[in-house]
Amino acid sequence: MSAENTIDHLLDETRRFAPSPEFAAAAIAGPELYEKAQADREGFWAAQSRELLHWSTPFTQTLDWSNPPFAKWFADGELNVAYNCLDRHVEAGNGDRVALLWEGEPGDARRITYAELTDEVKRLANVLEDLGVGEGDRVAIYLPMIPEAVASMLAVARVGAIHSVIFGGFSADSLRSRIDDAGAKLVITADGGWRKGKVSPLKPAVDQALADRNGQGVQETVEHVLVVKRGDNEVDWDAERDLWYHDLVPQASNEHEARAFAAETPLFILYTSGTTGKPKGILHTSGGYLTQAAYTHRNVFDLHPETDVYWCTADIGWITGHSYVVYGPLANGATQVLYEGTPEHPEPGRWWDVIEKYGVTIFYTAPTAIRSFMKQGRQIPQARDLSSLRVLGSVGEPINPEAWIWYREVIGAGTTPIVDTWWQTETGAIMVSALPGVTETKPGSAQVPLPGISIDVVGEDGSPVGNDAGGLLVITEPWPSMLRGIWGDPERYKETYWDKFQDQGYYFAGDGARLDEDGDIWLLGRVDDVMNVSGHRLSTAEIESSLVAHEATAEAAVVGASDETTGQAVVAFVILKESYLKEHGPEGLANELRAHVSTQIGAIARPRDIYIVGELPKTRSGKIMRRLLRDVAEGREVGDTTTLADTAVMSVISAQVR
Ligand code: PRX
Repeated sequence: MSAENTIDHLLDETRRFAPSPEFAAAAIAGPELYEKAQADREGFWAAQSRELLHWSTPFTQTLDWSNPPFAKWFADGELNVAYNCLDRHVEAGNGDRVALLWEGEPGDARRITYAELTDEVKRLANVLEDLGVGEGDRVAIYLPMIPEAVASMLAVARVGAIHSVIFGGFSADSLRSRIDDAGAKLVITADGGWRKGKVSPLKPAVDQALADRNGQGVQETVEHVLVVKRGDNEVDWDAERDLWYHDLVPQASNEHEARAFAAETPLFILYTSGTTGKPKGILHTSGGYLTQAAYTHRNVFDLHPETDVYWCTADIGWITGHSYVVYGPLANGATQVLYEGTPEHPEPGRWWDVIEKYGVTIFYTAPTAIRSFMKQGRQIPQARDLSSLRVLGSVGEPINPEAWIWYREVIGAGTTPIVDTWWQTETGAIMVSALPGVTETKPGSAQVPLPGISIDVVGEDGSPVGNDAGGLLVITEPWPSMLRGIWGDPERYKETYWDKFQDQGYYFAGDGARLDEDGDIWLLGRVDDVMNVSGHRLSTAEIESSLVAHEATAEAAVVGASDETTGQAVVAFVILKESYLKEHGPEGLANELRAHVSTQIGAIARPRDIYIVGELPKTRSGKIMRRLLRDVAEGREVGDTTTLADTAVMSVISAQVR
């Protein structure tokens, strides 16, 4: 769907859902939150932070914005993030509360209380320190969705080190570039994890990423690889470097004092795709990040920690898994489900079985998942008892009104509030969302900035577009969980997010948006060369450079074309080398190139379609006009071609694609 079609379509949407009086009466968040934040924004955040977190040394200063865009929040305070997520709940008498209701894909399960998780994290923190991991060191985590993944992140945080979690679906090459960029000292991985009914190996990718690097002139920073046994698959072993988790952690002492660290101590790096080929290491720090993760998790999901069973389906390899599987829920003392596998295994109803089995009350997932459930049909969820659900959340991409309504009707029994949450890896936590119990919701709109968050929609010149108009989404004031930079590249941080609206001092999010006549926000997708496939961010440039690295490819252009299920899909246009064509011909190449991208980046980046073409549409200055390629990929009439160097080229490409 083109942007214009999308807007027309969205403007037709007039359905509204007010919160029920019963829900509103019992809700955590009320309208006064907006008033308080409005009256004194910084004071509001300071109060939230004091209420939600335990500070070992209380802060006296809230925000230091004296050197923009480098913010410091609560800078003279000290805290331990893991203590906030674990020990303090045990000390408050909630040690027997279940923290994790873990379900493995083959059907095995574990219930882990706050006391048990605290114990595990203390042991692991001792192991990390024995391995020489301490404040400021980087630890790469490449694990399936198992309790040890949560424990690893918290143990790294506990000793003041910095984790870099790498999604298990990324390839050895991607793993290597992330390990090198961060200079990781330790890698925590597993032999393998369960996915789609079989063990998907992980350690071999780590071995491959770390193999033969002296020859490449790379200074090896990794000293050890700590391996969790999960898949029971056979793995190679380097006796000098590799250590079994089960040999060390259960034997380690369960006494470990959580040292307090300054609020701006780096907590994690998380790599995400940008507009260039090189992924950016987004850096988050401790006090501000945890404040906003806890605040949003509590208010947006209306969390009642004593009674709710919460489930966020995101993998810990993404920001949603960081903020809404690990830090937000655990800081708030929530009981949550952690599920290892895919939604379809052993059959399409697996997620609904999990909800029924554990009595999930709050459910947070992505539109792409909802759309694939719609395709499978409502009889599958309707065969399960989903009556425990009372709040539903959506994240990762715009949710179309049809999917929103289906989600509410079929999953939420026509009564649950839906919160459509807009945010990014860079924002660290939710920025725009309805508050259940307060907001009258509109299907398809993310609606309003949260109390304490300042957002606007502006034109290219930075002036507000006002209601009933479209433009670019900006964040106009610093927020506690904002990224503190790009690892090792402060210039790129300024350029990417702050240069565009330098005069106004706005953060540029990279998203197009529209304000409706009530001032509610409708997100319209990325305005840069970033694609959103199944809620995962991919860079056109990164996939193009992977395609060009193949011996057959002379040139490549990649676009995100709209796709019914995945939101967008990767479509590549490739020009082959004459010399290669003469020798091999084009047969089978599309599949080979697809596999090549999969190995280089990961299966999520594999192009849906690859078109072998003779030329690419370029402007006179040589810039590829991806807009026109998107028209072709989406089967539309090709738009304005007057700025092309050769205006005939599009009809040639269209003919070749057909
Ligand atoms: O384009 C927006 C889209 O996802 C981008 C951020 O991707 P990532 O950093 O991977 O984080 C995803 C999870 C927070 C945004 O720039 N996006 C995210 N949530 C929404 C959304 N687009 C529309 N509506 C949303 N609720």
